[in-house]
Amino acid sequence: MYPAYLEESIHLVEDTRVRRLLETMPSLDEMGKNALLKLYHPDYIEASMRQLQAGVNKGDSTPVELADLLEGNSRINPDTIDPSKPDHNVDVLVIGCGGAGASAALLANEEGARVLITTKLRMGDANTVGAQAGTQAADRPNDSPAIHYLDTMGGGHFDNIPELVEVLVRDAPSVIKWLEQLGVNWDKAPDGTMHELSGGGTSRRRLHSARDYTGLEEMRVLRDELRNKKIDYLEFAPAVELILDDRGQIAGAVLINLETEELVIVRARAVVMTTGGIGRLHIQGFPTTNHYGATADGLVLAYRAGAELVFIDTMQYHPTGAIYPLQILGQLVTEKVRTLGAQLVNISGEQFVMSLEPRDIVASAIIRECRERQLGIGTPTGETGVWLDSPMIDMIRGEGTIARELPAMVRQFRRHDIDITRQPILVYPTLHYQNGGIKIDTEGATNVPGLYAAGECTGGVHGRNRLIGNSTLELFVFGRRAGRVAAQYAKAVKRGSPTMEHVRRWQQELAKVGVAGQRPVSPRLLPDYVRRTHGQARQAA
Ligand code: FUM
Repeated sequence: MYPAYLEESIHLVEDTRVRRLLETMPSLDEMGKNALLKLYHPDYIEASMRQLQAGVNKGDSTPVELADLLEGNSRINPDTIDPSKPDHNVDVLVIGCGGAGASAALLANEEGARVLITTKLRMGDANTVGAQAGTQAADRPNDSPAIHYLDTMGGGHFDNIPELVEVLVRDAPSVIKWLEQLGVNWDKAPDGTMHELSGGGTSRRRLHSARDYTGLEEMRVLRDELRNKKIDYLEFAPAVELILDDRGQIAGAVLINLETEELVIVRARAVVMTTGGIGRLHIQGFPTTNHYGATADGLVLAYRAGAELVFIDTMQYHPTGAIYPLQILGQLVTEKVRTLGAQLVNISGEQFVMSLEPRDIVASAIIRECRERQLGIGTPTGETGVWLDSPMIDMIRGEGTIARELPAMVRQFRRHDIDITRQPILVYPTLHYQNGGIKIDTEGATNVPGLYAAGECTGGVHGRNRLIGNSTLELFVFGRRAGRVAAQYAKAVKRGSPTMEHVRRWQQELAKVGVAGQRPVSPRLLPDYVRRTHGQARQAA
């Protein structure tokens, strides 16, 4: 239930609704967009960034929270580890089990590899299950991979790595079919054709959805398939270090059993890194949509082993994170709400941005509305945001649309006595995704022989801003590719002797540049909620 003092603003939203229905907000031109980004997007706050002093990306800027972990001290003493005495010996080790990890494991298994998945929490506890709106694929008569390519490049400010985008859009229709064959119940029209919507920055309707819990549905079938194929897995066993051999090739990983704290050595001919996001680092104090394990572990481990990172200076702040009630601060309010017609409005009930601009633009416009124009709406706990006028959806598309298209969202707010079919939602940008990560080629290969990566821990596909529905797509496209090629590599590779030498070298480098004593141990593994409270760091930023 909203506090009484918000009633006046809610009435203004209601009173302006009919007029706004007919109002067209112009899209910003390129100059306007760039100016907005530079002034208000969190990526442009220079004080929040630091140049790396060690490793392959030395000199590159990245948020301080990530820089600290990338330059972190190893959790292990390499002198106490004997990598030649493994607890497990496999062809392909997959680290992480969201959509990318599951896809990689299935395809590596299909290639005949002995596969082991290890995951920090439980199988499927990953950002994939939080994906709501859908998965993009150009499979309608008025669409094509070429149009999807242009939309994706435009959304990423044309900084995306073109070959990666080409593969993304070309594989997309077959990925949708693959998932359907595995059992995904895509939303369909009564005639059996796909029910597809558009999103911010997409010029065609190509979002394939399962209501507003698409990622959960996708992960449901992948998890079932892993069980059907009897693929081995370890839960609560995150990787704390990779193992290389004396030829500089990947040779496995050191895991930690989170319950016993014992180290587990896995010998592997190839490793696929699919550890997902970094939202739980709460860059600049932002709340996040991310699951509890999203702490950048894959980036840290790959970086320490010599893998190059790209676009690590750009994060995605989803424009519409919940800010009321406090219990759901930062949780995703899917872009599908805007796709279906909801407008963003300020305290006076006025629109201030075209709601379906790409995410970085919408997020910046909301920040401007709240910070500079002071036209945001304050919550009792000190957050400020804008209204997302959800009741417009039923006005535009007919009574019952919200209940049908957004059942999870309706339920989420009903728990807190907010009826989003009748009342608007209070939102503010929330840390959602990192646009950058481990550099890969079109098969998911990194510059470290035998190390593959896929999904959110990689960078380059989305340039400086990802479009809706391209992340779940990326998981399956690159997860499948990486799994298949890792298995083929594993068959062919001539192995050397495993060693922890790269960890020794890493610690020496940290000492040489004088930062070893100032940095934490990493990977972090679990978020640190002791030293901060919500809002404090963000207000300071
Ligand atoms: O808004 C959303 O449902 C998020 C989708 C995405 O990040 O692709």
